[in-house]
Amino acid sequence: MAKILVTGGLGFIGSHTVVELQNKGYEVVIIDDLSNTTIDVLDNITTITGVKPEFAQIDLRVKKDIKDFFDSYSVDGIIHFAAFKAVGESIHKPLDYYENNLGSLIYLLQEMRDRKLDNFIFSSSCTVYGQADELPITEKAPIKTAESVYGNTKQIGEEIIRDASTAHGINSIALRYFNPVGSHPSIKIGELPLGVPQNLIPFITQTAAGIRAELSVFGEDYNTVDGTAVRDYIHVVDLAKAHIAALQRLINNKNKESFEYFNVGTGKGSSVLEIINTFEKVNDLKLNYKIVKRRAGDITAAFADTTIANKELNWKTELSLEDALSSAWKWQQAQK
Ligand code: WQD
Repeated sequence: MAKILVTGGLGFIGSHTVVELQNKGYEVVIIDDLSNTTIDVLDNITTITGVKPEFAQIDLRVKKDIKDFFDSYSVDGIIHFAAFKAVGESIHKPLDYYENNLGSLIYLLQEMRDRKLDNFIFSSSCTVYGQADELPITEKAPIKTAESVYGNTKQIGEEIIRDASTAHGINSIALRYFNPVGSHPSIKIGELPLGVPQNLIPFITQTAAGIRAELSVFGEDYNTVDGTAVRDYIHVVDLAKAHIAALQRLINNKNKESFEYFNVGTGKGSSVLEIINTFEKVNDLKLNYKIVKRRAGDITAAFADTTIANKELNWKTELSLEDALSSAWKWQQAQK
């Protein structure tokens, strides 16, 4: 069976994708620098699937280490998650973000070019659209000036991949994620935010666990159903399966262009208050929260038009928001 390299494979989305790859019978080798995760995740993946992925601890900013890796491993495809991803932090550390997120991408693509490797899946983001003019957001929506350095690394990353795939025939797909949430039903893997969570769901679960005193809801004066901002929250297992679908499209030569991109969401928007109410209901608890002013850089609303992804990837979401919020809470309760 094909062997797939997953960079960032011990991270939140990466680990869930490794599980789904193994479920489909792929051999997996993981590269991770452990800067934003722990090595326990490797054993947890093994507990779920019964198969231990190969693992190499490599900093993808070190070009020689990447070359050495590919001297030892031949792979049939690469799914590239490894990147810094904290939106707020990125604004204060632009050079670190450009070096890590774009430098590692360029080194990987150079190895693919030189060794004639093919099939590259890139972790992109709906942040490339900024505040879209029309909702739901289709792949035809214009790319807007990035609100953060992180978002800019995703925009520039897509351009680098498009040019490399055209010039060197590296068939590639960028998946533009909406908001990944939840945990694997085994509750053995999940989101491991280090420090104070920036994202809504881990902050909610840590508030419910008493780790945080209360959740701050960033603004209730948006032009939405209840004044709080709207996002498309997709279960991380559904998101992981979209990567398998995209990989199979490339391996089976079903792609229509050398570089393609797809919006990966549920197609449904939920406001912050709707998330809070659903979390309380599905987990039978009350959440301590207060309304505060908007967070700088936040957009009003974003949710995906999933028509193209559903059709071209032959993929659609199967898990509900309730599944995501219930598994997120179970995962939080399982943390020491
Ligand atoms: C969601 C909503 C906040 C925290 C993220 C990633 C981005 C991209 C898309 C991958 C917003 C509100 C949050 C809190 C709150 N994913 N909120 N209180 O900003 O949509 O972006 O998903 O690339 O990289 O950062 O997600 O979870 O931070 O916020 O009220 O304590 O929850 O204002 O409306 P966001 P988020």
